[in-house]
Amino acid sequence: MSKVVGSKKATQFTESVIREMTRLNQLHGGVNLSQGFPDFPAPAVVKEAACAAIRADVNQYAVTWGARPLREAVASEFTRRYRVPVSADEQVTVCCGATEAMMATMLAIIDPGDEVIIFEPFYENYGPDAILSGATPRFVTLREPSWTFDPDELAAAFSNRTKAIILNTPNNPTGKVFSRDELETIAALCRRWDVVAISDEIYEHLVYDGHAHVPIATIDGMADRTVTINSLSKTYSVTGWRVGWTISPPALTGAIRKVHDFLTVGAAAPLQEAGVAALGVPQSYYTELAEAYRGRRDRLLEILERHRFVCYRPFGAYYIMTDIGAFGFADDVTFARYLVQDVGVAAVPGSSFYSSPAAGRTKLRFCFCKRDETFAEADRRLAKLTRAGAAAR
Ligand SMILES: Cc1ncc(COP(=O)(O)O)c(C=O)c1O
Repeated sequence: MSKVVGSKKATQFTESVIREMTRLNQLHGGVNLSQGFPDFPAPAVVKEAACAAIRADVNQYAVTWGARPLREAVASEFTRRYRVPVSADEQVTVCCGATEAMMATMLAIIDPGDEVIIFEPFYENYGPDAILSGATPRFVTLREPSWTFDPDELAAAFSNRTKAIILNTPNNPTGKVFSRDELETIAALCRRWDVVAISDEIYEHLVYDGHAHVPIATIDGMADRTVTINSLSKTYSVTGWRVGWTISPPALTGAIRKVHDFLTVGAAAPLQEAGVAALGVPQSYYTELAEAYRGRRDRLLEILERHRFVCYRPFGAYYIMTDIGAFGFADDVTFARYLVQDVGVAAVPGSSFYSSPAAGRTKLRFCFCKRDETFAEADRRLAKLTRAGAAAR
C-alpha cells in the first residue's frame, strides 16, 4: 500500500463541520448563523493599538511565551477580577488563540492512554484535540433543557486513569453557565482523583439574566491544578487575530511553553501589543458588551420561536441550541443542508457536538453574534421554512 497517505490520527476525525457550514453558506449566499464570529466592528481603541504597534515596527518574534506587557495584563486582570494571585513570569503563556492554547495544554500534559473527561455536547475542537494528544475521552452528558449533569455519572467517570477534565463555561453550544455548586462538585472530584481541570473560559464576559461566571481556579484547592484558557477573540470581536493564553500552575507552565514554542513559536507580535490595550478597557465596556449580547439573544430567540424552533434559552456565550424534531427531517445534517441551500440560513448540525451523532440528530445550533440587519434578513428568509411547513401540513 502506498505510504503517500494521511496518518491514522488524521483519519480519526473529519474536517470541522462548523467551518464547512461557513463555506457552504458562502457558496449559497446565505445568512451565516453558524460559525461564531461577529459581523460588527471591533472596538476602535483595540484596532488603533494594533495599527500603532505596526507603525512602531513591532514586527519581529515576541518572546515565545508571550510579550511581557500582555502576560502582565492577563495576570493582573485575573487577579483583580477574581482575587487569585497569578504570576506573569511563571503562569501565563500567550498562544495563537484559545485553539492553540487548548492543543498545547493537552499535548503538554497528556500521555497516550490517559483518560480525559469531556462534558457533551462539547465544542467540536475537543474531539480532535483528544485524538491528537492520544487521550481516551470519557463523555459525561449535559441534559437539556437546563443542561445539568448527573453527579453520579460524573463521579463514575473519574478513576486513577483520569488525567484531566475539560470544562467550558459559559458553554458552547448550550449557553449553560456552570453554577458554583456544580463547580464545587467537579472540583471535589478533581482533588480526590488528583486530576487537572482545563477550563475554557473564552465567553467569560458573556453572561445574562443575573448569572455570574465563576472560574474553577477560584474554588478551594483548584488554583494549583487548573489551566484556565482564554483569548481576545470573543470579548473584543477579533476572532481572526489569533491571540489567546493559558494561566497554568507553575508546575505545568514549562511543559505548555515548550509545546507551544515548537507548535507556533508565538502569536502575532503587534496584536499582542493591541491585547494590552484590549485588557485595559474600563469595566463599562464589559457591562455594555453583555447587555448588547443579551439584546441579540432575545432578538434571535424571538425569531426562531416564531419560526417554530424549540429553543433552549442560553444564559451565557452567544449560541442558541434548538430542537428541530418537529420539522420532520431525517436528521440534523439533512436539515442544516436544506436550510442553507433552500432557505438561505446557515446553522450548525447538533451532531457535531456529540461523540455519537444520534445524540444530536434533532438539534441545530444558531449563533447571535450578529447585527440587527443580519437577524432581519435571517427572519425574512426563515419565512420560507414556515411556509414550506404550512404547505406540508
Ligand atoms: C468554547 C470555545 N473555545 C475556543 C474557541 C476558539 O477560540 P480562539 O478563536 O481563541 O482560538 C471557540 C470558538 O468558537 C469556542 O467556542
